[in-house]
Amino acid sequence: MCGIVGAIAERNVLPILMEGLQRLEYRGYDSAGVAVRDVDGELKRFRSLGKVTELKKLVDSSDISGDLGIAHTRWATHGVPAERNAHPQMSGVRVAVVHNGIIENHSELRDRLTALGYSFTSETDTEVIAHLMADKLESGRALFDAVVETAAELKGAYALAAASPEDGDRIVVTREGSPLVIGLGERENFIASDVTALLPVTRKFIFLEDGDVAEVRRDGVSIYNSGGEEVRREIKESTLSNSSVDKGPYAHYMLKEIFEQPGVISETLEGRIHNGRLLEASFGHETAALLDKTRHVQIVACGTSYHAGMVARYWLEEIGIPCSVEVASEYRYRKVVVPEGSLLITISQSGETADTLAALRGSQDQGHIGTLCVCNVPESSLVRESDVCFMTRAGTEIGVASTKAFTTQLVALRLLLIALARRRGLASEQEEKMVNELHALPRQVEVVLQLGDKIEKMAQGFSDKQNALFLGRGAFYPVAMEGALKLKEISYIHAEAYPAGELKHGPLALVDASMPVVCALPDDPLLEKVLSNLQEVRARGGELFLFSDHKVNIGLDHYQNLTLSDIYPGTAPIVYTVPLQLLAYYVAVIKETDIDQPRNLAKSVTVE
Ligand code: F6R
Repeated sequence: MCGIVGAIAERNVLPILMEGLQRLEYRGYDSAGVAVRDVDGELKRFRSLGKVTELKKLVDSSDISGDLGIAHTRWATHGVPAERNAHPQMSGVRVAVVHNGIIENHSELRDRLTALGYSFTSETDTEVIAHLMADKLESGRALFDAVVETAAELKGAYALAAASPEDGDRIVVTREGSPLVIGLGERENFIASDVTALLPVTRKFIFLEDGDVAEVRRDGVSIYNSGGEEVRREIKESTLSNSSVDKGPYAHYMLKEIFEQPGVISETLEGRIHNGRLLEASFGHETAALLDKTRHVQIVACGTSYHAGMVARYWLEEIGIPCSVEVASEYRYRKVVVPEGSLLITISQSGETADTLAALRGSQDQGHIGTLCVCNVPESSLVRESDVCFMTRAGTEIGVASTKAFTTQLVALRLLLIALARRRGLASEQEEKMVNELHALPRQVEVVLQLGDKIEKMAQGFSDKQNALFLGRGAFYPVAMEGALKLKEISYIHAEAYPAGELKHGPLALVDASMPVVCALPDDPLLEKVLSNLQEVRARGGELFLFSDHKVNIGLDHYQNLTLSDIYPGTAPIVYTVPLQLLAYYVAVIKETDIDQPRNLAKSVTVE
């Protein structure tokens, strides 16, 4: 996962590289580094442990500038977070390399290079790449050829960029399985892991394909495919707004993104519903044709996106469509039996999650009728490689803990549900009801967001806690899982979710006065059952933190009414997710953790 940025220009590129790194920090932030070609034509490198701000202090305290440079923000895979393991990795002064991905045959290559006399200063797989390239430069190859020949020896997934003072006026890049874009400017060109890094300097992008090798010069770019032929790749204009990556008045991106939910839910519905009807034409013919044939749905995703899939299973099976949901890291490696008429749905915010992509790629000959992705990033690999896509329109999500991506995924899945239900005889009054429920969502979420202060008070109850339980039943079990994931990832409190009925089969043993128990209590047919489960908790001294949309009286400790009179069962999981996001956020504020960039995590998990 790691972020790469590079630039060649007629001006000092350091500010461009530092800004780019800051924008890529969501991909990793264990350590960072930069190498620029200075006025003497030499590569000067700065590296530091920790976030980009640490690197920036180093860079700002020097008077170095350069017209060509490559930079990196790291999420450790091989080798602990340390300055020596930060990129760029260099082979002497001959070549500098930044790399995102994992080289699987690195130890075999390391042994070979050691025998040739190269000595290693890091534990990274990337240093192997730098020495391999240096070896080729040593035998007289140009940088471009050195990169091509090195790439041919690498096994694994990578996006990499190399610069060498010996072949000065170019950055050479290649990708295989990890994302890389080229940004085009006026007598200056750029490279990065994604477009957001380069939005301050360009809107024009080329998305490299697997196996591409490109030479990026000040005056142009040449791209060659894996067969060595020069190719032209389409130039795309990004419509992303630069301000979408600003925090605005919010203390954290996560809070900003939680509050953006009414707006992005509306965006996701825009042009897709009208006058109480689903506008099916907005899906496109190919999607409609796939939905016609769908008899079973297999959902594959990771993390929060997997939780969205789990909610969708409850919805789909209610209309009679058998549905299985699995985390991609398991699905990709097991032998699967695909039922007839099975549609593979992948769900992903980034569209670059390595396990989800691998599951999609591995499904080629499994016998699905087709692949559909629910995704938030139009230019992503998942979108490009799926048969059809249904885009969420959450906008850029920067906070590592996913919030608006989840709720918009649920909205997208609800729209797909209506389309599938139509094919099973959904009555038009019923369709109108479902559509109107979606239409009401932005307003309902607005109302819940106004409870921020009250939820902030509730959060105090977690300040001294080490553990928490989240309970739910039916579609609220995955909502509880999502609430627990949010709490654990940003507050570092150990949190588990259980279907409330499962409590007595083990987890109840954990409940005492030091165990907060969080539960969303929708007014649904399982309410009475959940209330009994909560009584069991209360009887053992467990402290309850409850959210509901009506008054429930069971001698509650911390109870928050969502003050909504009309939460609908179908969309209630979306509404109830919001207070759980806010709870996790305010607990993390009290705990003073790094909310937008929690330890050990990264936003886009492009490695296995
Ligand atoms: C949790 C979170 C992760 C992601 C997961 C999948 O808050 O963000 O669990 O949901 O890494 O990422 P995407 O959706 O990009 O495939």
